[in-house]
Amino acid sequence: MTHTKSSAPEIPGYGFGLPGTACSPVSNEDLRQLEETIGWSTADEAVMWRYAGLFREHAEQMVDTWRAVIGSQPHLARWFVASDGRPDEEYKARVKQRFVQWVIDVATRPHDRAWLNYQEEIGLRHTPAAKNRTDGSHTPTLVPLRYLLAFIPIVTNIRRILESEISNGDGLRALELAWTKAVHLHIALWARPYTRDGLW
Ligand code: HEM
Repeated sequence: MTHTKSSAPEIPGYGFGLPGTACSPVSNEDLRQLEETIGWSTADEAVMWRYAGLFREHAEQMVDTWRAVIGSQPHLARWFVASDGRPDEEYKARVKQRFVQWVIDVATRPHDRAWLNYQEEIGLRHTPAAKNRTDGSHTPTLVPLRYLLAFIPIVTNIRRILESEISNGDGLRALELAWTKAVHLHIALWARPYTRDGLW
């Protein structure tokens, strides 16, 4: 399926497709096999694309909902706390803009090399290799991998936000399933920089 490239507004630190962004060592064949394992298909891509407008419209609301979960658990919120012990509000605001853009990207970006490279970059940005680097912040340098995995059920739960928009039950279920597969695919790719060579 061919999509027009979604244009992203100027977001500080959003490096999609830009020089200086990581290069993914994941081959096209590795990606294809991972997609096949997750069950990602052109039908999933099509359903995400069909409802892209809803993701655009609700991306910020989704991120706010997920952020509220992080904010309510001090052991999660600490990864946004600066060395002076206070939440780094500027960091939170900058990361939020990129997180909102990510939701839109999940719905609209084809899984090409630029996309694959940016998944490597996002993975790195959760690890000591690149956390804080983009925003020049001074918060803890790692979001442990187990929390990326443990957060998946929070991010895949989009039903409450979208059910008022999609009256067709089958359509909603197909969208939920496509989104769930997409999130798993992203996290599987983000896990790569956490692992020693050859173990991923
Ligand atoms: C399903 C799980 C998760 C998803 C989908 C997710 C998504 C994202 C996205 C899209 C970004 C911005 C990437 C960019 O710079 O373009 C980001 C950055 C970040 N996330 Fe996550 N995240 C997840 C789990 C977590 C958890 C559990 C925490 C900790 C509470 C966390 C903390 C952060 C931090 C601190 C950054 C900023 C890193 C930096 O550039 O310094 N994330 N995340």
